[in-house]
Amino acid sequence: MQEKLEKIKKDFELQMQKVSDVLSLESLEQKFFSRKNGEFTDLMKGLKDLSDEKRKEAGLLLNTLKGELENLLHNKKSELENAQMGDLFQKESIDVTQPYLGNLQKGHLHPSTLIQYQLEDLFASMGFMVWDGPELESDYYNFTALNVPPDHPARDMQDTFYVKGHSDWVMRTQTSSFQVRAMQKFGVPLKLIVPGRVFRNESTDPRHEHTFYQLEGIVVGKDVSFADMKGVLETVAKGLYGEETQMRLRPKFYPFVEPGVNGEITCSLCKGKGCRVCKYTGWMEIFGAGMVHPNVLKEAGVDSNEYQGFAFGFGLSRLVMLKYGIEDVRHLQSGDLRFLSQF
Ligand code: DAH
Repeated sequence: MQEKLEKIKKDFELQMQKVSDVLSLESLEQKFFSRKNGEFTDLMKGLKDLSDEKRKEAGLLLNTLKGELENLLHNKKSELENAQMGDLFQKESIDVTQPYLGNLQKGHLHPSTLIQYQLEDLFASMGFMVWDGPELESDYYNFTALNVPPDHPARDMQDTFYVKGHSDWVMRTQTSSFQVRAMQKFGVPLKLIVPGRVFRNESTDPRHEHTFYQLEGIVVGKDVSFADMKGVLETVAKGLYGEETQMRLRPKFYPFVEPGVNGEITCSLCKGKGCRVCKYTGWMEIFGAGMVHPNVLKEAGVDSNEYQGFAFGFGLSRLVMLKYGIEDVRHLQSGDLRFLSQF
């Protein structure tokens, strides 16, 4: 018996050395301890044929050996499982401190936003507040308060989106709609710009879009003059397109200013020589402006005998097109990556 046990122990230990994974460990366990025909089980079964005394002795030896072998199995099993987990951790682990080395595609600002920020910085450097106005606006602030009464033909200049069921609401056609709101909200004196989206019921073509951007400005004070207006606008034009840029103002009618002007600068592409973009005139129109009409000041509750001011409106989308030589305004709102990735 003793010999048999020694042999089984040796066999077991020998085969254990070859075990390299959980599966082969399980088959080793089966080989020795399977209930049906395990080598060790068979020895146990043989006990019943021994005499009482021998059975007792052999039983003791067998049980001791069983404990030893089971211990070996158990230890090997944990060893294999730990190794397996280690492998897994190694494979799955990430170094969170490692910088990303792949081809990282970052987003960037839209060209309209780039120009808007540049203008905001310019105006802020001259002491202007930057504010935001509502895109859904009352008919009153968009037109009536700006000296355009309901039956005035000037309403025809801007094709308006009216809101169904709310005839007194419109999608603002101009950022000028914030002029009276601004004076009511902040009082005077005042220096403020409002960049933002405006909407017109246009059939679109390369020069017209239903949604585009403007930048409105208003300055009100006790001795604000036309010359101040010219100075501010010239500073902006040079800031945007370079020191050599020249500006000219020509009379134009806008209901909310008197006198009103249209502002042109020397073409940024041909420097005034004349090209396709400026239609060979050497000049490009970039804003409307003028001295705030007394009726507008009155609507805002400002005494026009004491205060004057000027207002101006840049076509922001137009500035973007001129700056980057974009030939079709519809690219700006298209969301087309082939266009956007060029900036
Ligand atoms: N709101 C005008 C437009 O959309 C632009 C404009 C002209 C704004 C004259 C002004 C201004 O403030 O004084 O065509």
